[in-house]
Parts: sequence; C-alpha cells; structure tokens
Amino acid sequence: MSDLPESTDPIRTAALLEGQEEERQRLARELHDGIGQLLMGIRWHIDQLADASFTERQRNSYQELQQLILETIATTRQVAFDLMPSVLSDFGLEAALRLLCERVTRPGSLTVDFQSNGKNQRLPETAEIQLYRITQEALTNALKYAQASRIEVHLSETDLYQLVLRIVDDGIGFSVEELTRRAQVQSGLRNMKLRAELLGGRFHMESVPGQGTSIEVSLSR
Ligand SMILES: Nc1ncnc2c1ncn2[C@@H]1O[C@H](COP(=O)(O)OP(=O)(O)O)[C@@H](O)[C@H]1O
Ligand SMILES: [Mg+2]
Repeated sequence: MSDLPESTDPIRTAALLEGQEEERQRLARELHDGIGQLLMGIRWHIDQLADASFTERQRNSYQELQQLILETIATTRQVAFDLMPSVLSDFGLEAALRLLCERVTRPGSLTVDFQSNGKNQRLPETAEIQLYRITQEALTNALKYAQASRIEVHLSETDLYQLVLRIVDDGIGFSVEELTRRAQVQSGLRNMKLRAELLGGRFHMESVPGQGTSIEVSLSR
C-alpha cells in the first residue's frame, strides 16, 4: 500500500510526531528517575514499619499497603516502558523488538516470533524510535483486528538494504482498496508510512482478506 493517500499536511504531522516522541522520552525519564525513586523510598520505609506487636487489623492493613506499593511500582515501570523502553536506547532496536515480541506473546493463543539476521548495528536514535513505533502500531493492529494466531517480526540486513523490517500476521486481513476508497485512511496506517518516509525509507503494506497482513519498511544503503 505505497499508494496510501498523503496525509493532509505531512510536514505538520511529522513535526507533531517528533514532538510527541520527545515528550514521551521526557515523561519516561521523569517517571523512572523521579517517581520511581520516590516509590522505592516509600517501599523501604513501609518495610521498616513491620512490627510483631501488630493487631490483626493492623497486620492486614500493613500487608495491603505492601501489596499496593508493589503494584504501584510495577504499574509505573510498565507505563514508563510503554512511553519509551530504556532497552531501546541502552541496547538498540534488535533487543527492544525481541523484548516487545516476548511481551505481546500470549502462550497458547498467540505466538509472536522475532527473527533477525542483522549484526545488531546501532542506528541513529530517531531511526530506532521510528522503527520501534511502526512495529508497535503494527502489532497493536494485529492484536486488535487480525484475530491472528501467529505474528512474525523479521529484521534483516542485505547487500542492497541497510535494514528491512517486516511484520506479518496470519489473521483475517482487510481490503486495502476499500480502506483507501473510504477516503480518510486512519492515522495509524498513515503515521506508519510517514514515519518510514521520515527515515528516507520505503513503506509497503499488503493485506489479503482471509490471509493476513504484511508490512515492510526498508532502508536502502
Ligand atoms: N493487521 C490487521 N488485520 C486486520 N485489519 C487491520 C490490520 N491493520 C489494520 N487493519 C484495518 O485497518 C484499519 C485502519 O487501521 P489504523 O490506521 O491503524 O487505524 P486504527 O487502529 O486507529 O483503527 C483498522 O480499523 C482495521 O480495520
Ligand atoms: Mg491502529
């Protein structure tokens, strides 16, 4: 689907996407370093409070409090991760995609397989973020609409291409033609294409009703 209609104002959308990523990065850091550290402090103090002379009611409240603080810490980590996973800047795209696929897998009902033939070379930070977001959106769509049982994410490097990213699901697919005829293509698909083009890459999408959907982003050398 390289023939998706252009967004109404690609330059403005690109600026918005970029601003959004900077804000996400700031928020993720704030959550991790700020609120995350404060919560660890609270947890430590709660642990110090344990007292053998607690009444049963006090002990119940204390255990409830311990449980709540653990859940708050876990939720904060999850939100920070979704905003901007630190694994992406620390270890790069391959490691981040591998982890993303593991987290999306639902044992027994959905396998999300990750494969790479790459040398795990680092790309510029903005490129890694765009490619990660494209994968996130493609996986979200596959989860929301495709009823897929298997999703494959491939990252490869060839003589011709610096990088090829493919996300393929075996779900119900959809008619790209029909979607394009509905004039306004939803922003998820449009933003994936725009993100790929911001990198100077090529975006290609194919979907066959009953057979699934594949998305490919390629960056020439
Ligand atoms: N992997 C997929 N499998 C089946 N249908 C899909 C898939 N990806 C997208 N679609 C269809 O394309 C439409 C547009 O997707 P998108 O632009 O991401 O918008 P949104 O996710 O906000 O609905 C979806 O509403 C859905 O009908
Ligand atoms: Mg979507």
